[in-house]
Amino acid sequence: MSMINKKTIEDIDVKGKKVIVRVDFNVPLDENKKITDDKRIVGALPTIKYLVDKGAKTILVSHLGRPKEGFEEKYSMKPTADRLGELLGKEVVMAKDVIGEDAKAKAAALKDGEVLMLENVRFHKEETKNNPDFAKELASMAEIYVNDAFGTAHRAHASTAGLADYLPAVCGYLIKKEIEFMGKALSNPERPFVAILGGAKVSDKIGVIENLIDKVDTLIIGGGMAYTFFKAMGNGIGTSILEADKVDLAKSLMEKAQAKGIKLLLPVDNKIGKDFSNDTEAKIVPSTEIPDDYMGMDIGTKTIELYSQAIKSAKTVIWNGPMGVFEFPNFATGTKEVARAVAESGAISIVGGGDSAAAVEQLGFADKITHISTGGGASLEYLEGKVLPGIDVLMNK
Ligand code: 3PG
Repeated sequence: MSMINKKTIEDIDVKGKKVIVRVDFNVPLDENKKITDDKRIVGALPTIKYLVDKGAKTILVSHLGRPKEGFEEKYSMKPTADRLGELLGKEVVMAKDVIGEDAKAKAAALKDGEVLMLENVRFHKEETKNNPDFAKELASMAEIYVNDAFGTAHRAHASTAGLADYLPAVCGYLIKKEIEFMGKALSNPERPFVAILGGAKVSDKIGVIENLIDKVDTLIIGGGMAYTFFKAMGNGIGTSILEADKVDLAKSLMEKAQAKGIKLLLPVDNKIGKDFSNDTEAKIVPSTEIPDDYMGMDIGTKTIELYSQAIKSAKTVIWNGPMGVFEFPNFATGTKEVARAVAESGAISIVGGGDSAAAVEQLGFADKITHISTGGGASLEYLEGKVLPGIDVLMNK
């Protein structure tokens, strides 16, 4: 994949230059605006530290949430600037706007090694429309564009793609790391290569399954989407989640796996419940024996054993999506045990953003995972084999 061949900040002279860096500081905040997970800020530190050490004048730009037009306190980037300042051990100047007088004056006043954070770029509707005039205004504050926002690289917005029309554009260390790990797994994996896909819907993962089915040795399916596969096999699935319009697709994916000699593992047993709540009456039954008035909510013990064995024999593992209704503690065991197996596999392990990343973190396994992606939608699109616009626009080596 050509995305691996992009110029990085090391390929351009940044000393004394004004460098605008697109970061993805779209982090979760609690009601007191305290950041509850700063992984994305930590992920951008190597790039920001490099620029500071090289004496660049760093201008950071990011979105947070999906605000409507205009300034809104609850979407302000201020908490992220403060957190970054703590992590850097250095003041991060906060602008009151994005391309307004305050931002421009503060950008112009930056000294070598100083860092400025602009306000939420989505306070301007032109951002998501990739409006060229808006991108030009943003670009006018800087001499170089660095994209390090992997989590937003699947969006063709003014600050993620448009800036590259006006400035020399390179990637930062986070994007470099993300595409190196995922790119290697996709193009030249150490085998056996096992992919674990979960989540509620087949439709969210079709692209990934279709792309990976040519590359993996074993494909493990869990989560709500397994029930659409069961339906395709002719099993009764009770009141489990079903995408009726994807049953034929599930069938053809199973046939494809068989024709290619790929092991496709589906749950052999399931933890089922009467209704969708943590405290519902629950039991574990074989996948062929789900009663009409029960729904599948997690993988069962035999399945955990089967999946763990497959994961432990792997040399490369990619995992995206929970094995059950992970937000209910009584139905979180499957996801947790898969997290454990991935962490203990000794394989090169890559975990996509969202629930699977949260599971490995909550269990304290994060440091045993080779790479936890900072991208949710972006890592999915990357695994689908799509070209990400925010990376595509960068200069080739
Ligand atoms: C994310 O959290 O997935 C990214 O920051 C992108 O956010 P978006 O889906 O609002 O574009």
